[in-house]
Amino acid sequence: MKFINTGILGVGSAIPPKIVTNFDLEKILDTSDEWIRTRTGIHERRIVEDGVCTSDLATQAARAAMQSAGVTAAEIDMIIVATITPDTITPSTACFVQAKLEAINAAAFDISAGCTGFIYALSLGHAYIQSGACKRVLVIGAEVMSRFLDWQDRSTCILFGDGAGAVLLGPVQEPGILGFKLGADGSQANLLIIPGGGTNQPASRSSVENRQHFIKMCGNETFKFAVRIMGEVTQEALDAAGVGKSKLDFLVPHQANLRIIESARKRFELPEDRVVVNIDRYGNMSSASIPVALDEAIKSGRLKRGHLMALVGFGAGLTWGAAVVRY
Ligand code: UT7
Repeated sequence: MKFINTGILGVGSAIPPKIVTNFDLEKILDTSDEWIRTRTGIHERRIVEDGVCTSDLATQAARAAMQSAGVTAAEIDMIIVATITPDTITPSTACFVQAKLEAINAAAFDISAGCTGFIYALSLGHAYIQSGACKRVLVIGAEVMSRFLDWQDRSTCILFGDGAGAVLLGPVQEPGILGFKLGADGSQANLLIIPGGGTNQPASRSSVENRQHFIKMCGNETFKFAVRIMGEVTQEALDAAGVGKSKLDFLVPHQANLRIIESARKRFELPEDRVVVNIDRYGNMSSASIPVALDEAIKSGRLKRGHLMALVGFGAGLTWGAAVVRY
């Protein structure tokens, strides 16, 4: 079987206009700007207005990616949305996006892989293009985290924000997506979980009273896992792509904590301007963090066609994944 080369044809993102600063959070929680900045690197995050849901942000990001690639809605074969904050449990958020885009020829489904969702979705989109099954695949990471945050829990709610990013994949002459590594350890599921609302703990009066529909995280253990896995999985993806780490132009990491990003930067001996960081402005947008960072690096002119980058994520599952891509 002859494999087709996959490349990124277009990139886009959508960030809600409303800014919530650490100082705003000081007014409703026992926290401080100083604690949040020094422990996480976050200064502010974006939060959607009432009535805006995940598919709205996803659609806006997708439109921007389609526009940058010069591709119309009718040309899209498949829409994959990575999210842990879907509009509804069923149908998938991707189906709402498909309707809003009027992408009448596209199949649509969601991927749930925590903050690694975008990397998992990218690997799937790649496989559909590589096999010849699809010609135009939209891969979107989109989250409205604010609706699943417990605004009484200072250890989690200060960390996250809302946003969406999208890439449009298609066949190209020179290989764009060069190698992947994905992983999971379901025995650690409880480290980062929304316990209520599924078959294990259906919605009930007590599940609501006990705040089971919000994100719960054991920050410290997740932190240690993240520092270890980010370096390991990036190296494994470089090995899969047959690329030495000295060839890497950019690292586009998941934005969970500036200290985690910094540890990866040092491991790969990259100068600060070769690591894309936006956690200061947006917090952790889960599946959306990586594609938004990618879009901003391209739009600002830092990341150019021909550059070699590693995209790396980790999160609930536990899951992890990295992709080595020539833009
Ligand atoms: O994207 C998915 C993956 N997620 C991650 O990778 C997140 C990884 N974890 C982290 O980034 C860090 O663990 C956190 C930023 C969440 C927490 O930082 P930490 O240095 O691990 O702090 P901690 O949880 O050990 O808490 C230290 C102290 C505690 O007080 P005591 O027990 O030492 O008196 C907390 O109660 O900080 C306290 N604390 C806060 N203080 C002020 C926790 N949250 C806050 C807060 N403001 N918002």
